[in-house]
Amino acid sequence: MRYFLWTVGCQMNVADSKKLAAGFERLGLERAPDAASADVAVVNTCSVRQHAEDRAASMLGRLRLLKEARPAFKIAVMGCMVGPRAEALERRFPFVDAFARPQQFAPVLALAEEPAEDLGGEFWPSTFAAPDGPTAFVPVVHGCDKFCTYCIVPYRRGRERSRPINEIAREVAWLTARGVREVTLLGQTVEAYGHDLDGQPDLGDLMRALSADERLARIRFLTSYPKDMTARILAAVAGLPKVMECFSLPVQAGSDAVLASMRRGYAKAGYVAKVAEVRALMPDAGITTDIIVGYPGETEADFAETLALLEELRFDKVHVAAYSPRPGTIAHRTMADDVPAEVKAERLQRVQAVEERISRERNAACLGTVQTILVEGVNAKGQPYGRTRAGRLVHLDAPARAGALADVRIEHAGPFALRGTALDALALV
Ligand code: SAH
Ligand code: SF4
Ligand code: F3S
Repeated sequence: MRYFLWTVGCQMNVADSKKLAAGFERLGLERAPDAASADVAVVNTCSVRQHAEDRAASMLGRLRLLKEARPAFKIAVMGCMVGPRAEALERRFPFVDAFARPQQFAPVLALAEEPAEDLGGEFWPSTFAAPDGPTAFVPVVHGCDKFCTYCIVPYRRGRERSRPINEIAREVAWLTARGVREVTLLGQTVEAYGHDLDGQPDLGDLMRALSADERLARIRFLTSYPKDMTARILAAVAGLPKVMECFSLPVQAGSDAVLASMRRGYAKAGYVAKVAEVRALMPDAGITTDIIVGYPGETEADFAETLALLEELRFDKVHVAAYSPRPGTIAHRTMADDVPAEVKAERLQRVQAVEERISRERNAACLGTVQTILVEGVNAKGQPYGRTRAGRLVHLDAPARAGALADVRIEHAGPFALRGTALDALALV
């Protein structure tokens, strides 16, 4: 049998898909290059914005045609579109054979109809995704307890649950034995790691334990939640040589009124102080952020504060999205989606214009410097690429082996990436 897997959404969803693929492969299935040549197709969905749901729906429309021509073809929908009750989805997509919530792998694997193998107790800690390069995602804390008013994630991924350090270390050792040199520790609010475990280790303790793996060169982590990012965790990031100075620290808005309405748990001043703390400890840290424009009640003056904050903090990258009401969330239940679509689109473009200028300027400041990158692979133009310790993307002018660490002199800078030459090219091939 062959399986086809289609994924949208965040890194956590990508990690879940890899885990599912590992499960299928343990059952003896092979990966199909497209849905038409598969026996079972899985759509791993995201609900963070309407657009992500629309993409999954259109994928399902295509799969439905395949099933009409070939009734034995099986279709599963997994991930964040599937809530505690699947009735509405079942009515909308009656041709789907199985619905599974995020990380609920069993009903999907059951479609394989292969003789059930004993997967060795619990599926999650015993089935590791095969790496496809020198970097890998490792979920360390599932779920989210924060309930920001606009966000569907806590309703679909449940409460925060941390994996024990020894279990994560076993997965990382398994990965590094197969060529992985950099792991990205994943959580919706990754600094929440450990509060629910015996002895309450924190993210810094986890990073310290993983640093002992000699084959591992680098550790990344995301996503950061300002309020959970303690001085103790920051000291660990700054002090551990393998941990990259690279922060994904969503601010969402620059206006205190909007932040309070979103229930983010901090005001602008607290966020600015957190960034200052990071930069005081790690002057070369890379910091990216997320912004929502057109949140209910966002005035032009509120929005101007967001733009002013971007100018003040000068992030390395800004991911911006227009507010999308999510049924079931607090904002959807209690607030009107009152910013017109054209105003949202215009604010989105204004953020993008500021972000592109600042990203370009920040990248340009790297010209002439030497940065260490981990070569991750080769881009469409045949150039090797990797990331600096601050998370900046660098393309190399000459061939290099994936998995090599290279010191690179930066010679070109654009808004999205840098380009340069390795100082010791011979060591790379
Ligand atoms: N846990 C992270 C991000 C989770 S979702 C955090 O706390 O920020 C990823 C991003 O999607 C968010 O940072 C937010 O900017 C965006 N997002 C979430 N819900 C959204 C919504 N309803 N409409 C538009 N963007 C949204
Ligand atoms: Fe969503 Fe807020 Fe949790 Fe991030 S912290 S996943 S935005 S509820
Ligand atoms: Fe989307 Fe779920 Fe991730 S809603 S962003 S796939 S946690």
